[in-house]
Amino acid sequence: MDDFIYHDGRLHCERIPIRQIAEKSGTPTFIYSRATLLAHYDRFAAAFAPLSPTICFSIKSCANINLCRLLAERGSGFDVVSGGELFRAMQSNADPQKIVFAGVGKTDAEINAAINAAIGLFNIESPAELENLIRIAASRNATIRAALRINPDVDPITHKHTTTGKKETKFGVDLEMARAVFDQFGRDKYVKLCGLHVHIGSPVNTVEPYIAAVRRSLELLTTLRAAGFQLDTFDLGGGFGAHYRGSEAPDAATYAAAIVPLLANQGLKIILEPGRSIAANAGVLLTRVLYTKQSGTRRFAIVDAGMNDLVRPALYDAHHFIWPAEPGPQFVPNPRGESDSIPGTIEMDIVGPVCETGDFLGRARKLPPVQRGDLVAVFTAGAYGMTMSSNYNSRPRAAEVLVEGDTFRAIRRRETYEDLVAAEIG
Ligand SMILES: Cc1ncc(COP(=O)(O)O)c(C=O)c1O
Repeated sequence: MDDFIYHDGRLHCERIPIRQIAEKSGTPTFIYSRATLLAHYDRFAAAFAPLSPTICFSIKSCANINLCRLLAERGSGFDVVSGGELFRAMQSNADPQKIVFAGVGKTDAEINAAINAAIGLFNIESPAELENLIRIAASRNATIRAALRINPDVDPITHKHTTTGKKETKFGVDLEMARAVFDQFGRDKYVKLCGLHVHIGSPVNTVEPYIAAVRRSLELLTTLRAAGFQLDTFDLGGGFGAHYRGSEAPDAATYAAAIVPLLANQGLKIILEPGRSIAANAGVLLTRVLYTKQSGTRRFAIVDAGMNDLVRPALYDAHHFIWPAEPGPQFVPNPRGESDSIPGTIEMDIVGPVCETGDFLGRARKLPPVQRGDLVAVFTAGAYGMTMSSNYNSRPRAAEVLVEGDTFRAIRRRETYEDLVAAEIG
């Protein structure tokens, strides 16, 4: 929980009692710790420093420009997958040369915007996309660097919806096709196919899938170099884990210990695209209990945050550690979560107000008793929380607050009902 810590039975973010934020900003609110965000970035950068990589924070995980600016100031680039993410990266004062652009369905408008911004690298997902990029680059007489995303057919052992490196997914091209793509397009004058990209899935909580993916990629790279193609870049993607339950994710040093020796001294510029491992533990979603109720044998705490605010539990059956913000000193949780065995806890489902049975934040959790008005924190919500939120059930999106030491400020206001209809014509 890094800088989200219980003192005297009350949750603090850095030196701010969480209650103060709820009083000023209301709920539901995403609360981020600047110190945690930057500490995760720094640890990652330090672990992989022997490779002198370009770290391109995956903006899809956490996209508020205030947070991205902090990372850009620290030297981070950005991994983007849409024109909107490119816009956010530029608004975050990114160095365009440190922007990489992936995604299976880049439109011509998005490609043109990325060329205008002079981004560092296009990550190509199919021969048809490459052909289109060459056509656009030629028409503009532009020279572009691109890497081919390959699909090393490695099982990242994660949820089926976030597995991306298996042959059957829509991402990248398989190893056989990769060779054919280089043969056909690898000597183009406008699009310099200068490297390989992989992203095997997320979260990948063991190092073995990375080792397998890097080995397969290096084999292909060696073959391609032997055939005369000039390859100088390898982008390993992201997928590094975060602590949702306890301490299940390897730390940056453990990933690096496995990966660095494989990639050192290969004459390659290395790119890494971490998202959740930087941002997830840097944020909590603060919510308030609206009602409690019993239905049959099940007990429910109905809170004011729902699947529209945090969809991961509904979409991936994802686990987030959940705990009241002011449970009292007898219920101080283990800083790494998994506090079910504290005496006096009661099993309950923590559910939202959205009209879907799938609208839950946690099921069958043992929590200290809660009642109407209590504040509850959903941990590890800094990544794929706000960015995946929606207006479903016409619910305005949550506010976002950034804590820095003993101060905090709004970095996104809560949406209003007017915001809900602002883009509608009529
Ligand atoms: C191409 C690419 N890079 C990086 C990431 C970031 O993954 P994570 O946030 O798990 O590090 C993703 C996530 O989907 C991705 O698709």
